[in-house]
Amino acid sequence: MSKLWGGRFTKETDELVEEFTASISFDQKLVKEDLQGSLAHVQMLGECGILSKEDTQTIQQGLLVLQKKAENNELQFDVKHEDIHMNLEKQLLDEIGQTGGKLHTGRSRNDQVATDMHLYLKAKTEVLISLTEAVQQSLLEQAKKHVETILPGYTHLQRAQPVSFAHHLMAYFWMFERDKERLSDSLKRISWLPLGAGALAGTTFPIDRERAAELLGFERIYPNSMDAVSDRDFIAEFLSIASIMMMHISRLSEELVIWSSQEFQFIELDDSFCTGSSIMPQKKNPDVPELLRAKTGRVYGNLIGLLTVLKGLPLAYNKDMQEDKEGMFDTAETLEGSLKLLAPMLSTMSVNSENMRSAVNTDYSNATDIADYLASNGVPFRQAHEIIGQIVLYAIQQKKYLLELSLDEYRKYSPLFNEDIYQVLAPEHVVNARNSAGGTSFQQVRHQISMAEKTVKV
Ligand code: ARG
Repeated sequence: MSKLWGGRFTKETDELVEEFTASISFDQKLVKEDLQGSLAHVQMLGECGILSKEDTQTIQQGLLVLQKKAENNELQFDVKHEDIHMNLEKQLLDEIGQTGGKLHTGRSRNDQVATDMHLYLKAKTEVLISLTEAVQQSLLEQAKKHVETILPGYTHLQRAQPVSFAHHLMAYFWMFERDKERLSDSLKRISWLPLGAGALAGTTFPIDRERAAELLGFERIYPNSMDAVSDRDFIAEFLSIASIMMMHISRLSEELVIWSSQEFQFIELDDSFCTGSSIMPQKKNPDVPELLRAKTGRVYGNLIGLLTVLKGLPLAYNKDMQEDKEGMFDTAETLEGSLKLLAPMLSTMSVNSENMRSAVNTDYSNATDIADYLASNGVPFRQAHEIIGQIVLYAIQQKKYLLELSLDEYRKYSPLFNEDIYQVLAPEHVVNARNSAGGTSFQQVRHQISMAEKTVKV
């Protein structure tokens, strides 16, 4: 079978080379984008008088037939035609004859493939933005139910200070808000159109690149044809954003795994989001958050993979760049699948408020508040810290919690202690005392939730 570029060659391509260099097995995912780009290109060529009206129409009709076939999965791809671009061109030739050969006028596969990738990522990014928002909605829904649910807040995974469960969940809400912002911001750069850059230097035909941009819904064209065909920043940026997002998803997943353990029993994931063990009948395993945590690995890998492919490439196009695709598809699909699972898993999880509360009742996470108590009675905070440290040590030795010590015991350490210390130490008081902006008091958390509701359309 002769190649579309066969003129210069005296021999058939080695079969192993054909297999090794072809990308059709994976870039057929770009079929829709490639046809969309070709339709805009041919319309622009027609409008510029580079192709006759007749030729333009013939090609357009042929492309529309291919579009229909693609929708019905009727296109047959062949590794002999290397990639999606040449497979489609071959199909067009089969469909409309030699006129199909005019489609590639003023265009190269180099600007073509870059255009396809921009189109793919533009659509995917929009989907990912709305899926991220669905996760935020689930967090918000749970947060609204749990403003007054108190659990230990941790630092170093040691009990630190009690917090509202809504406050803990809302921390993730804002992480996803920034992720959404990053995705939206990246659309600005994804909206640069490479089409019309040719192989690297532009084209001898009087094309109208702005018109092609308008037809494809891009904000602007790349001002430099060499940059246009060499740039894969927009993909590296997407992979970076996706990596940050997976890191957030992984941290949240890790908490879900910990919280649903026998040791914590703070939450229970819905049965429909867990699996069992083939040997231990009692098991209910949090496979979904575990896998979400693990999928982060491949997403990071794809980022490092692409950066490594690109780092030594001279301008302009190099075949190395074909390696940009699988990682990008894999990341986009992994992130999409992860967000799709995370939203319903969060909405359906049940929260064991009593266990959270009894954890707070059996720890020393109100110790800071006694230090603050002495400090607001004039004792320098550093000195107060030292005194309370001694009280905590004494309480641990007595096997008592801070609320269980008598006033006499407190007074042994400072005459400034009065009955009101017991109020100060109550978990609700401890939480509500942190009423500084962005703090965990119920009032601040409610304020935060109302800000969040304005951010996502409820
Ligand atoms: N399949 C190629 C890729 O994905 C398309 C561009 C090929 N261009 C070339 N000059 N060989 O990068």
